[in-house]
Amino acid sequence: MRKSLVAGNWKMNGNKVSVDALMDGLMSGLNSGAVPASESIDILVCPSTVYLSQVADKAAQSVINTGVQNISQFESGAYTGELSLAMLVDFGCCYAIVGHSERRSLFGETDAQVADKCEAALNAGVTPILCVGESLEQRDAGEALAVVTEQVLTVIERCGIAAFNTAVIAYEPVWAIGTGRTASPEQAQEVHAAIRAVLHDADAEVAAATRILYGGSVGAANAAELFAQRDIDGGLVGGASLKVDDFLAICSAAAAA
Ligand code: 13P
Repeated sequence: MRKSLVAGNWKMNGNKVSVDALMDGLMSGLNSGAVPASESIDILVCPSTVYLSQVADKAAQSVINTGVQNISQFESGAYTGELSLAMLVDFGCCYAIVGHSERRSLFGETDAQVADKCEAALNAGVTPILCVGESLEQRDAGEALAVVTEQVLTVIERCGIAAFNTAVIAYEPVWAIGTGRTASPEQAQEVHAAIRAVLHDADAEVAAATRILYGGSVGAANAAELFAQRDIDGGLVGGASLKVDDFLAICSAAAAA
């Protein structure tokens, strides 16, 4: 039985005041039972890293976990502008989103760098959330499964299948991110099953236990039908994670799935 995970990726949004308000809203909602059986799921928020400490201090009084949206693959040294895992752990980071499509497409991150980052996270005791997903052109060309398979295989080759005893995978079709156009539950399930089959080829037990999240325009209205799919173990949520009621509704859908 896999424990569902609902993760909010706040992206480059918020300020000191709004971040506090969002955390206060989530925590009072959770305290007042807005998410029945909230202890049966893992809840994670990934603020902009400048607010990590602020968010982690609040989250420490709740069931909410804190993570970051990007990490350096390097341990320390002359890497101007980068943040090491040790620094992030110092400030309360437990999870790290790795290889988000925005980092791949806007900042040129390669599959190899993404694999290095996964390995660095695991070495630091941080759970990587490996993002994979195809572009619209790749889907239209019938390449979705091949693209996603390659992205997962690169990490298995670099880190070993045992990495997925810990690591989480997030399937985020690029065409569904921030577009309001969600993959249908059937489309998402097809890719999730394919990802699990790739893991299964390497180790059946690991494959059965690895959490695979769906991301891409997840909202309060579509979360339940997505999470009802056999191989969907929660969500990586962008826009809707900035709204207290929507995020709590998505958490409720995961807890009920
Ligand atoms: P949206 O939920 O805004 O589509 O963003 C998805 C995403 O990129 C989460 O990492």
